Amino acid sequence: MTILITAGPTREAIDPVRFLTNRSSGKMGYAIADAAAEAGHRVILISGPTQIDVPHRVDYIPVESTQEMFEAVQHWIKKADVAIFAAAVADYRPAAVPDQKIKKTGDTMTLELVRNPDILGSARKEFGFHGALIGFAAETENLEDNARGKLQRKGCDLVIANDVARQDIGFDSNDNEILLVYPEHTEPLEKHSKEHLGQIILEKSMALAPHD
Ligand code: CTP
Ligand code: CA
Repeated sequence: MTILITAGPTREAIDPVRFLTNRSSGKMGYAIADAAAEAGHRVILISGPTQIDVPHRVDYIPVESTQEMFEAVQHWIKKADVAIFAAAVADYRPAAVPDQKIKKTGDTMTLELVRNPDILGSARKEFGFHGALIGFAAETENLEDNARGKLQRKGCDLVIANDVARQDIGFDSNDNEILLVYPEHTEPLEKHSKEHLGQIILEKSMALAPHD
């Protein structure tokens, strides 16, 4: 099978020397990529900048901005049977990026942001993807309800929900505790290392892959 995985944060340029980003380490997505490559699948890993070594035996597509990640996914998803969207994508980017470094002037400064495209939300209609579609939901409240809303809006077969308000799990941590949110039911998992969860998420995702 061919598995496309997005991972890591994105970077949205403010000017030639500055950018907006988030706390994603990329560990969860890379752990899934590792598990998939180990299991002998073809892995296409589309990743924002991380500190992690590229896993062996994956096709690695490095990107920075959400727009670049969008275009890479649009291109590569055609080849995939399963697509897992673990990236922490910036919802907004600066409206204009000047060629020169922005100089400080007044005592306050306002940065205008515009909405980025929703990559996962484009998979079904815009990219015409018919394989198994797995999203993530990072929430600080109403974990299950919010994740289920994303599952429905984005046409996913499974959403992996995690509570990013908790300090002991999530973004920077080596562990995670997740809820598997399916269209008809929800399955809570115990806290595990991200490596182990990578294997579990891979198995749960492969079980949703089309069979023909
Ligand atoms: N996602 C994406 N493209 C975006 C935003 C999110 O592909 N522009 C994907 C993420 O990779 C994740 C899922 O959508 O798999 C949910 O991301 P999340 O940030 O939790 O949800 P949003 O839809 O952006 O909603 P909000 O941040 O407002 O809660
Ligand atoms: Ca978001």
